[in-house]
Amino acid sequence: MLNKNSTRRDFVKSTAGLAVAGAVPYFFSQPRTFADETQSKNDRLKVALIGAGGMGVGNMNAAKAMCDVVAIADVDSQRLNKANKDLSGGKADVYDDYRKILERDDLDAIHIATPDHWHTKPLIEALRAGHDVYCEKPLTLTIDEGKLIRKVVKDTGRIVQVGTQQRSTYNLFVKAIALVAEGRIGTIKKIDVAIGGAPESPAIPAVEAPKNLDWDRWLGPAPYVDYRALQRKKGRPFSNCHYEFRWWYEYSGGKLTDWGAHHVDIAIWALRANGQATSPLSIGGEATHPIPFENGMPTLNDRYNTATKFNFKALFPGDVEMTIRSEGNGITLEGDKGRIRVNRGRLTGKPVEDLKGNPLPDDAISKAYKGLPVESNERKAHWANFFYCCRERKEPISDVHSHMQMLNICHLAGITARLGRPINWNGETEQITGDDQANSMLARPYREGYEIEG
Ligand SMILES: NC(=O)c1ccc[n+]([C@@H]2O[C@H](COP(=O)([O-])OP(=O)(O)OC[C@H]3O[C@@H](n4cnc5c(N)ncnc54)[C@H](O)[C@@H]3O)[C@@H](O)[C@H]2O)c1
Repeated sequence: MLNKNSTRRDFVKSTAGLAVAGAVPYFFSQPRTFADETQSKNDRLKVALIGAGGMGVGNMNAAKAMCDVVAIADVDSQRLNKANKDLSGGKADVYDDYRKILERDDLDAIHIATPDHWHTKPLIEALRAGHDVYCEKPLTLTIDEGKLIRKVVKDTGRIVQVGTQQRSTYNLFVKAIALVAEGRIGTIKKIDVAIGGAPESPAIPAVEAPKNLDWDRWLGPAPYVDYRALQRKKGRPFSNCHYEFRWWYEYSGGKLTDWGAHHVDIAIWALRANGQATSPLSIGGEATHPIPFENGMPTLNDRYNTATKFNFKALFPGDVEMTIRSEGNGITLEGDKGRIRVNRGRLTGKPVEDLKGNPLPDDAISKAYKGLPVESNERKAHWANFFYCCRERKEPISDVHSHMQMLNICHLAGITARLGRPINWNGETEQITGDDQANSMLARPYREGYEIEG
């Protein structure tokens, strides 16, 4: 296994150390740190990709100045071969079974960018095999999976970066957090998180899965169902597979986890930066699904089922109220001294305007970023943060513990949506109180052969 292979680890560590000597605070703002042509091929970081879809390939493109993609696994041979051509000129080793990647002892890190229902299992297996991992958000499909991952990260001491790259967007989200931490909005009283709603679909017929796709393994831990696809006039087909898995609770949490994982994350980061409680006491509200639900389960299996519209309120200690809603996109943080709004395009509000006359202290951004080196381009910076933390054996900016603190809220919103009633939460025990049915939804059953062992 990689990290039992001290030769490679030490070599990369010492080489990288030389490259940045004296430049630690802005480590990766030196553009050629790992991409230096004078370095021999052996010096470059070796990364393996599991899940060569839109995000996996996009992420590796963002990271490629710092690493080589030497191995790729996907259950769709067409995607696998295309990614190999695009990312490594056809030179990577390709696998239809990701477990072959976990056995390799020549890797510096693994990137997991499979659909959400396929995150926890390969992540835990990779950590147990001694690898450091950059895993896409949302880290889990359930709250209990998060408990298991946190335990395995503690047990193994491996480095895990979660793919919430907004945490590495220094000019927007990190700056917003720095403003909060510097007291510019005071004590937070209200938070509004707008994340958009999910689409509906017509009935999607069961059809034969494409020959290039191993449908059984794509489903993996999820229940066995037919492959469904329906070509629309333009764009990708309606389906229960590539990209569209987001709109099925069997494989995702819909917008609540797809974008909730980004924007609820910033909201909870702000509370934490302000020293305020990050675990809600209760959550409830309105949700519209495209089909009726009974006992928390969809009553039709041939079309998208995640919430198209919603408006939830989560209550936190200190009478702090967080709205999570489907209209719009962005986060508004309202404190007793001021209010700021941030999304991927803009950071606004009086405290932002006031920066002209009253700038943040020099170290405010770096402090908000856990004192780690900062770079402004979000995806590349997030990878730089990961590689830096692998080398230094530090907790990355998107660590599993703080990620799960906020993802719990997204999952709780999904449970309250599916059951159509409010729920109470005990953040200490991580249990829903007074509602056995809701509590049973903290976990999911795994298909035989795909069980997850901690
Ligand atoms: N951070 C972000 O901003 C961001 C943006 C988009 C997507 N994502 C996340 O990235 C992940 C992937 O999303 P996507 O849009 O790229 O999906 P996608 O469907 O395009 O790609 C997923 C790929 O994983 C493959 N796969 C499925 N099971 C596999 C297995 N067992 N082994 C190997 N490969 C397997 C699929 O065949 C597919 O090629 C999701 O979790 C999503 O939430 C994050």
